[in-house]
Amino acid sequence: MFSDGLKKLINDNLLRIIRDRESGSTASRIIIDGEEYINFSSNDYLGLADHPLIIEAAKRAIDKYGFGAGASRLLSGGTGLHRELEKMIAEFKGTDSALLFNSGYTANISAIPAIADEGDVIFSDELNHASIVDGCRLSKAKKVIYKHGDINHLSELIKKENGNKKVVITDTVFSMDGDIAPLKDIYELCCFLNSKLSTPNSILLYIDDAHGTGVLGKGHGALAHFNIKPEPFITQMGTFSKALGSYGAFIAAQKDVIDWLINTARGFIYSTALPACVIAASIEALRILEGEPALVEKLWQNRERLFKGIKDLGLDTLLSQTPIIPVVVGDVGTTIKFSKHLIKKHIYAPAIRPPTVKIPRIRFTVTAAHTEKDIDKLLEALSTA
Ligand SMILES: Cc1ncc(COP(=O)(O)O)c(C=O)c1O
Repeated sequence: MFSDGLKKLINDNLLRIIRDRESGSTASRIIIDGEEYINFSSNDYLGLADHPLIIEAAKRAIDKYGFGAGASRLLSGGTGLHRELEKMIAEFKGTDSALLFNSGYTANISAIPAIADEGDVIFSDELNHASIVDGCRLSKAKKVIYKHGDINHLSELIKKENGNKKVVITDTVFSMDGDIAPLKDIYELCCFLNSKLSTPNSILLYIDDAHGTGVLGKGHGALAHFNIKPEPFITQMGTFSKALGSYGAFIAAQKDVIDWLINTARGFIYSTALPACVIAASIEALRILEGEPALVEKLWQNRERLFKGIKDLGLDTLLSQTPIIPVVVGDVGTTIKFSKHLIKKHIYAPAIRPPTVKIPRIRFTVTAAHTEKDIDKLLEALSTA
């Protein structure tokens, strides 16, 4: 039934296959089919996924709460740990409330339709993550796409459209390009437009800080990076699955937004809560992030070393400004060959192809767990490719 579609994917070099690993942590090493590689494909930016304190915290929670949560939060799935983590996240992000979601994907596909409804207009960056795209598809609001990071285009479009509420949605760090959204400009535009309206805060800003949390703003995320106050019109989404080395996601916002999500976000209401051991791991990860600023500093030192080395080789890194560094080497076939060359050199960094991105690329992510030697090995492999 699907064989023609699959054949076409094979012919176009676009067939995706799953490669499972045999190793534990993924931050800097990965074992696949018995071979060890230096891994440059993990979003575990701070190398926390196998931190002994996090593992201990998860084990203690299993001993106390068992494994499965058994029900959704609105039934009996939540624990004191869920509450504690929400309180910590609200403080960490400077909001008065927060709500946990089972993943970043679930948060976006649940919160966006709850926040933007019929009669509203969503303005979404053209390179926003697929989970935002899907959240927009599920929303009954009108969708308007603005050119990537283009504040003038966004401003023109917002002024043209009428809607009860206007919701600007952007990734803070774009996950395939590694650039940072012009958040200060977007924020100032929202402030300006809100100041002209009779209904306060009817221009909302929804940011997906999945790759900003733990990375930007000394770990606090994109608002801290740009020195932006977490105003009531801003809703911040973030994940525990990347720099925090755990799993799950959150929305941090004003209390009425959170109360609204508790009552209307379908992925929150109709899904089993995260297990307490996952929450315990996230709590511990947040404590480590706040207590060990050297981790974020190391991440950025590594990023600068790798980025400078790649630039010195004259390679195209698109607009990368973060530990996500795409390298464009040619069409899909060339990109796959390039990735295979790296594999031979014991470096793991898969090719990213359409439809995930329009321009094929190798996406390198560097973490605090890499050594200078790891980075130099990658640079050497790139120079011989
Ligand atoms: C920008 C962005 N938002 C959301 C998600 C989804 O997060 P999760 O992996 O926790 O579902 C991702 C992860 O791939 C992402 O890169």
